[in-house]
Amino acid sequence: MTLTTMTDLHDLHDFIRRLPKAELHLHIEGSLEPEMMFELARRNGVALPYASVDAVRAAYDFTDLQSFLDLYYAGAAVLQTEQDFFDLTMAYVRRAMADNVRHAELFFDPQTHTVRGVPMATVFAGIAGALRQARADHGFSSRMILCFLRHLPEADAFATLDAALPLRTEYADLWIGVGLDSGEVGNPPEKFAGVFARARELGFHVVAHAGEEGPPAYVHGALDVLKVERIDHGVRSEEDPALMQRLAQSRMPLTVCPLSNLKLRVVKDLRDHNLARLLRAGLCVTVNSDDPAYFGGYMNANFVATADALALSSKEVVDLARNSFLAAFVTEDERRRWLDELQAFSA
Ligand code: HPA
Ligand code: ZN
Repeated sequence: MTLTTMTDLHDLHDFIRRLPKAELHLHIEGSLEPEMMFELARRNGVALPYASVDAVRAAYDFTDLQSFLDLYYAGAAVLQTEQDFFDLTMAYVRRAMADNVRHAELFFDPQTHTVRGVPMATVFAGIAGALRQARADHGFSSRMILCFLRHLPEADAFATLDAALPLRTEYADLWIGVGLDSGEVGNPPEKFAGVFARARELGFHVVAHAGEEGPPAYVHGALDVLKVERIDHGVRSEEDPALMQRLAQSRMPLTVCPLSNLKLRVVKDLRDHNLARLLRAGLCVTVNSDDPAYFGGYMNANFVATADALALSSKEVVDLARNSFLAAFVTEDERRRWLDELQAFSA
């Protein structure tokens, strides 16, 4: 590498770090760092199957989505009290702010917690408490998206929605949508047609994971049956040219998570990732961290690694950040403010 290109790379990395951006695909349970896992286990008297923080990190050698989910659900068992959810969320917000994330939409999985006897209200209070404090203290903007676990029956998703609805008014400033996560293959969007129809009638925004490990047909299903407003992941859409055209023409946002795709072996090497091709085909692509404590990096790590592996230009990096604000579930005033900030930054 020549001296000039090294300087250029350094400049691009610095540019990425300072770039204002939004994160739209982040599972708050996936931001549980091993250090906090140990701390909460100690605080709550929970036994962990690991001898040390290093042993936890060593176990993060995933072969596919399910091999990750097994550890992710086990790790979440240390989350028990409102304070635990508050601390988890505040730790994420600090990392996000350090990466110049202006706005974050947090996925949370209530079923992972209610099944262990943690009340729905505890989960909401802890997460929302931290988000409100971050807004008051730092102007950090956020929303919450309740995800249904797709490996469980639709009836369980209905019960989860019913259990959360009494809290809707209290958290109207934050809880604005529902999503669909967990093991994709064998659990197509159609399985959740009823509960998504109900959520839409209630006025919630709707999103779903599709086309991460599942085929393009699942992306079609999420669009046609669930009527989602964004596709989470969606990288396998590239296998279906008609779907690609549809996504480009509708500017349907894709919340792509490059380091997640690498760690879960959706791609073998980041240089094989199709993010740049999707972007250059005119799709509304965004960069996100998914489960940063498990996949090796928060927002800026995802941006920097992707920009290096795919030789993204500074214009493309700005396009990715602009897409994140365009795809956010916020007021037009908020969107305008961030788009103006981005414009001034990149001028
Ligand atoms: N896919 C599906 N479910 C998940 C993920 C993911 O990447 N992360 C946390 N739950
Ligand atoms: Zn995800």
